[in-house]
Amino acid sequence: MKLLLRIANYIKPYWIYILLGSVSMLFFALTNSAMVYIIAPVIRFLFYPAQVSKEIGVSMDHIQAGTFFDRLKTLLRASYDKYLFSANPLEILARFCLILLALMLIKNLCFWLQAFFSSYALESIIRDIRLDLYRHLQSLSMSFFNRHRTGELISRIINDTGVMNEMISLSFSNFIRDPILILVYFVFLLVLNWKLTLIILIGLPPVVFGMDRLGKHLRRYSKKCQERMADLYTHLQESLAGIKITKVFGAKETEISRFKKHLQSFFKINLKRIWVQKLSTPFNELVGTAIAVFILWYGGREVLLDKTIRPEEFIQYIFALFMIMQPLKALSNDYTSVMQGLAAAERIFSLMDTKPDISSQVGARKAEHLREKIVFENVSFAYGAENESAIEGVSFELRKGEHIAIVGPSGGGKTTIIDLMLRLYDPQEGAIYLDGTDIREFELWSYRSLFGVVTQDVILFYDTVKGNIAYGKPDATMDEIIESAKIANAHKFIMALPLGYDTIIGERGITLSGGERQRIAIARAILKNPEIIIFDEATSSLDTESERLIQEAIERLIKNRTVVTVAHRLSTVKEAHRILVIDKGRIVEEGNHESLMRTDGLYRLLYSIQFKC
Ligand SMILES: Nc1ncnc2c1ncn2[C@@H]1O[C@H](COP(=O)(O)OP(=O)(O)OP(=O)(O)O)[C@@H](O)[C@H]1O
Ligand SMILES: [Mg+2]
Repeated sequence: MKLLLRIANYIKPYWIYILLGSVSMLFFALTNSAMVYIIAPVIRFLFYPAQVSKEIGVSMDHIQAGTFFDRLKTLLRASYDKYLFSANPLEILARFCLILLALMLIKNLCFWLQAFFSSYALESIIRDIRLDLYRHLQSLSMSFFNRHRTGELISRIINDTGVMNEMISLSFSNFIRDPILILVYFVFLLVLNWKLTLIILIGLPPVVFGMDRLGKHLRRYSKKCQERMADLYTHLQESLAGIKITKVFGAKETEISRFKKHLQSFFKINLKRIWVQKLSTPFNELVGTAIAVFILWYGGREVLLDKTIRPEEFIQYIFALFMIMQPLKALSNDYTSVMQGLAAAERIFSLMDTKPDISSQVGARKAEHLREKIVFENVSFAYGAENESAIEGVSFELRKGEHIAIVGPSGGGKTTIIDLMLRLYDPQEGAIYLDGTDIREFELWSYRSLFGVVTQDVILFYDTVKGNIAYGKPDATMDEIIESAKIANAHKFIMALPLGYDTIIGERGITLSGGERQRIAIARAILKNPEIIIFDEATSSLDTESERLIQEAIERLIKNRTVVTVAHRLSTVKEAHRILVIDKGRIVEEGNHESLMRTDGLYRLLYSIQFKC
């Protein structure tokens, strides 16, 4: 129920379109009924022309007699007869054809209008849900993305909303349409013959019971189906992103068999889902036919034996009965798709309900500048409860204008320290302060905007070079972009690209070399002109020319700024004011190059190995 209310919230803004759609549908049903209705008198006229002419005028007198439905019926009949039969036979035929054409026109117009309004509402709703879901994803913290596979998230945004879309589109237009149709046809049947019509109600309990059982199974299978679909998405996303490794390692067959396994398990559960879903039609048709046969038998007896029903009225009634069968059958189909849609909605909303671990507190302050220093005080952090601490009891200061280098063996916790400083994660113990205020008390975006970051693995987006450089400052002018590219030693190679700054660099910047990508990332950080620069150097080694170009770029980047570098390059380390040596999550040594070289510790060891000196 809560789920339906939440879906209703998305539907609410478009209620006017839904109302217009419903009204169109109502008219559709009315004209459709009218078409069946007008046939009977004509049949009667064709068979007994003399009698019909006699009856006109007489029937008007009967209007006061009988139940409400009887009176409505007589009134309708009398007005119609009066219009149609107060002329010669040829004229009658012409009038009848005219009415038929007019009704047909209105009916089809209403049908299209209904589709027009409801599809507008529907597509808007799905667009809104997708956007909200994506917006929510963007607000979630890094730890969430560490826990969830990309493919699964893509599957939620595309596949689950797609399934929900189907539910809303199918059931939603039909859910309005079919009940209206059923109601109108039901009233019509009541008008034609209320006694026969009440028999239909006998079928209600078995149908409701059967559909309820079916629906529950369907919802369960549908949920499993979407989970398997998410596995498929994940596999595809990961294997296509890693296609190069698969090729190099000749792991084609392994990948294919893994994909086959996922496909097979999706195939099995999906089949079950379809089989259960397809049960609904035959089940309902059986019950429906049983009732119709009963009505045929009972009504037929009335016609033949008791003569309480006129033959043409009975034909009219059977026609109308067929008409109501259609939406009744559709309604049961709608029900099955709603059940599946609800399973998808559950998954969608559970994602929307995930709270970000890291967000701005209510009434958080704006961080404007680094005035004095950033302080790490006894900071410990582990990725997830089951993991060992990635860093433990780390304390240090970064003063304004200072350049700190972090060095140490791989996996020591260098990137983790950087991520904590950027508040991508919050420490489990200890705290980080900006000018004496815990960074958790600042508005997240304002705090992060103090930093410019070059990450360890450079991420470039599928966009132009220009767009990638201006990523952190979308309103930058072309001159500013070129200027930063020049400082980052990137201008020359960018100009050599086919379209210069307008060249699209592929997914993750595939067409560029590692060194070139890094220089674009540096230009990106320079353009943002932040107060604090964080530079996590890539571990991959570069040729001497690239090395020199990047070195120059780094030197310009860090000049006169507050800087933290995770350093692998000799000169970057040497020139730092202070060096933190990190090993197994702890700061094991601290000092400048000279002082650290004097002590016979890890730094000297690393230095002699890593910097080949
Ligand atoms: N997202 C993550 N989830 C779980 N564990 C992680 C995650 N990222 C890093 N770790 C673990 O935390 C520890 C520190 O990793 P970190 O990336 O900070 O090392 P590093 O010093 O930057 O290494 P490198 O020099 O290779 O970049 C490692 O043991 C690593 O396996
Ligand atoms: Mg690292």
